Amino acid sequence: MAAPMLTASVFSSPSADFAADVRSGLTKPGQKELPSKYFYDEVGSALFEVICLLPEYGLSRAGARLLWRHASAIVNRLPEPVVVAELGSGSGTKTRWLLEALARRQPVKYFPIDISRAALSRCQLELGQIPSINIVGFERAYLDGLLEVAALRQPGERILVLFLGSTIGNFDRAAGEEFLGEVRRILHPGDFLLLATDLEKPVSQLLPAYDDPAGVTAAFNRNLLARINRELAADFHLDRFEHVARYDVTERRVEMHLRSTVDQNVHVARAGLRVTFQAGETIWTESSHKFDGDEIVRMGERHGYRCDAQWMDREWTFAQTLFVTV
Ligand code: TRP
Repeated sequence: MAAPMLTASVFSSPSADFAADVRSGLTKPGQKELPSKYFYDEVGSALFEVICLLPEYGLSRAGARLLWRHASAIVNRLPEPVVVAELGSGSGTKTRWLLEALARRQPVKYFPIDISRAALSRCQLELGQIPSINIVGFERAYLDGLLEVAALRQPGERILVLFLGSTIGNFDRAAGEEFLGEVRRILHPGDFLLLATDLEKPVSQLLPAYDDPAGVTAAFNRNLLARINRELAADFHLDRFEHVARYDVTERRVEMHLRSTVDQNVHVARAGLRVTFQAGETIWTESSHKFDGDEIVRMGERHGYRCDAQWMDREWTFAQTLFVTV
């Protein structure tokens, strides 16, 4: 694959884990599950880009708006020199403002870490034109990628970790906190973490964001089954599963499911698996937890961070929290 100048990529081998994860998720006693990281193949990544354009899905625009408005303020709080590692870069659109502000101050080393190769190449195209930027993409799980970036650290360099798009909300709350701790253990004191989180808001605003009238989100969710058909030679009938989004008030999260509309059997040839679905039974594909501003600060404090600054969007309640490691 031709890469733009000054960029390189570290690729992983095609995942044999996919079959194993599908097998364990669909044979789980009780609630069947599929891991949400498999949403983002080439089709899924493109559909997610469309979700981000939907008027109902204000989340990514809010995150981008905060970075656009406060890019200089954020950069002014960072030590020099700082290298940037982004966990789950996606197409890189939201990161542009920050990297441009940083490039006005110093040559930028940017390490996007993403399990989606499609996302990484789009990210390199999107951001490769920023003056004096050096991009090295890692096709890795977040912590594996961050370990590799940390190993490249030059004396005196600080690391800024970006965890944008409220991806932390896709972990269970306890696992999200645990993850912040894992990131902290890879960092040194005086490094930074910019953490984006979607905040609680009325259910009437939240649900359409995850179940839009044009059906893009439904297509995104169902594409997970289409991907299993494509890559693992399964025979899911996509029209026999419907997209469901619901809000759990106690857990403060939106849950996404795929509900079987009939009694049916599915064969996943490359996972050596036959699964039975009853009418009404669901596969749980994603959770998106919602936070409040203080909760985020306290979460960081429990895991070796101090809140350096926090910016909130009012149009779509959302927070960017800048943590420094202690
Ligand atoms: N991280 C995104 C979120 O929680 C992912 C997402 C958006 C998503 N819409 C979705 C996942 C619909 C599954 C289904 O907002």
